[in-house]
Amino acid sequence: MQLLSNFLKHKKIDTELVELIDTLMLACKEIALQLREGELAGVLGISDNTNIQGETQKKLDIISNEILKKVLLDNPLVRGVASEEEDHAVFGNPEGRFLVTFDPLDGSSNIDINVSVGTIFSVLEVPAGEHEDSDSLFLQPGTQQLAAGYVLYGPHAVLSLTTGDGVNMFTLAHTGDFLLTQEDVTVPETTAEFAINMSNQRFWEPAMRNYIDDLLAGTEGPRAQNYNMRWIASMVAEVHRILTRGGLFTYPWDSRDPKKPGKLRLMYEGNPMSMLIEQAGGVSSTCYQRIMEIQPEHIHQRVSVALGSREEVKALVEYHQKPE
Ligand code: AHG
Ligand code: MN
Ligand code: MN
Ligand code: MN
Repeated sequence: MQLLSNFLKHKKIDTELVELIDTLMLACKEIALQLREGELAGVLGISDNTNIQGETQKKLDIISNEILKKVLLDNPLVRGVASEEEDHAVFGNPEGRFLVTFDPLDGSSNIDINVSVGTIFSVLEVPAGEHEDSDSLFLQPGTQQLAAGYVLYGPHAVLSLTTGDGVNMFTLAHTGDFLLTQEDVTVPETTAEFAINMSNQRFWEPAMRNYIDDLLAGTEGPRAQNYNMRWIASMVAEVHRILTRGGLFTYPWDSRDPKKPGKLRLMYEGNPMSMLIEQAGGVSSTCYQRIMEIQPEHIHQRVSVALGSREEVKALVEYHQKPE
């Protein structure tokens, strides 16, 4: 089996990017260790802090954020990092070439019940020219990402990675190495499985309500097949399922907070997951536009997300194009 770094070298990926990915995996291995011990390490439960998203931080949100921040900023290739758990970007070497954004722990409402969580990351390059350290360095559309991926901490830890040339998966071995386990992952074009938090139904737009009603109607409805539903409340786990066996995942805009375009974050969740899904042949949209083409206005910007199997996401987007 092939080591992650050997695989990337064989693919002739830029050696500095390979070094950066190695650094990211060093941090993710440390997070995996902390997660493994759970209650024994005293890492479960909430902290006294609230993040800029307005969420009460779990202890492990903070621990994972600190690990990633420290390990990445120790690497001179890194100019700065932006995180779901930091108010503003944090900077390292002024000569550094890379910017890294991350959701240190995704699905953190699942930590205390011992259900899968993950780390999501995205790599950008510092734009050309002289730039002061500021959040604005990060405000690049997802099409500019050099690499994106996640590590799912489930029954086993798996890295799904794209450097813009397909998606590959690597499993964390007992030796501490990530080994290639799935090459050139593709999302099946059609599916009969969807994921949405149904408890928000009364807050959705009519187009989303109509679409889900038609899925629930099964063989009796216009979609003419029976659908299965999943909701893990961990985007990493949902995207991993979709990369593995297809499906549709959506966290749409809803009227609970009408000023926000959605719950999920463009830079830490929307863009990296969109790059993975598109690189595996799937589609990722807000229901109105391609997520990776959005020009971000601030680092914590929210976005409505619908991604997965090509034909199913296209069908959902069509519901949004019909007049009400
Ligand atoms: P995070 O734990 O990083 O804040 O993200 C949680 C996200 C995502 O992983 C998941 O799909 C969604 O929030 C779950 O939200 P609900 O609890 O509203 O279903
Ligand atoms: Mn959070
Ligand atoms: Mn998240
Ligand atoms: Mn998070």
